[in-house]
Amino acid sequence: MRMPIADYAPSPIRIVHKMLEFSRIKKGEMLYDIGSGDGRVVVEAARIYGVNCKGIEINPKLAEISRNKVDRLGLADLVGIVNGDIFDFDLRDADVVTGYLSPLAMELIEPKIFSELKPTARFVSHDYGFPNYRSSELHLIWARSAYFPWIPFPVGHFVDVYRMINVRERKKLSNLSKVIEKEVRTAKKLNGKTPL
Ligand SMILES: C[S@@+](CC[C@H](N)C(=O)[O-])C[C@H]1O[C@@H](n2cnc3c(N)ncnc32)[C@H](O)[C@@H]1O
Repeated sequence: MRMPIADYAPSPIRIVHKMLEFSRIKKGEMLYDIGSGDGRVVVEAARIYGVNCKGIEINPKLAEISRNKVDRLGLADLVGIVNGDIFDFDLRDADVVTGYLSPLAMELIEPKIFSELKPTARFVSHDYGFPNYRSSELHLIWARSAYFPWIPFPVGHFVDVYRMINVRERKKLSNLSKVIEKEVRTAKKLNGKTPL
């Protein structure tokens, strides 16, 4: 069933540029924006870095706005916009995945992201982190709100960068330390009376 897992709010362009910079995307790579809104992330990625991108957006009106923008800017060779649900798409060929979702959405997509993305891939998240994996880098950036442009001062935004190889390695290490901790506790309980 198609279900939105986050409301629409555009990322300020300054944040979009920072997300792309932190992703270290390069020519020949493939970027997906999951929940692509008005298409600003995929448009900027194609415009500045010349990479192939796909925007996945559940709201048909926003998908149409994005397609019009892509056509108007002559970026249709690089950018594809699909009107659909994130969960219906395979992200295995992604080099970079970007998202600006919600805490609940991050919890829901976490298993998909960490099982599907290749080890060299990066997930760059605006404002929300995954509940179980720690990001490789956390950045705080000040930017004017894109949603409330009349607010006269910049607002702090977080950008988390998850490098798959790095976070998987960390998770493995923390599992390993849990195993060691358990061994130590068992050894303490036995208090030297090991049946060896
Ligand atoms: C906060 S906006 C971010 C838009 C854009 N990525 C940006 O940074 O400006 C989140 C977007 O995710 C879309 N969305 C929510 N649930 C979705 C789902 N299950 N599949 C695809 N898109 C979804 C919403 O319609 C909304 O446009």
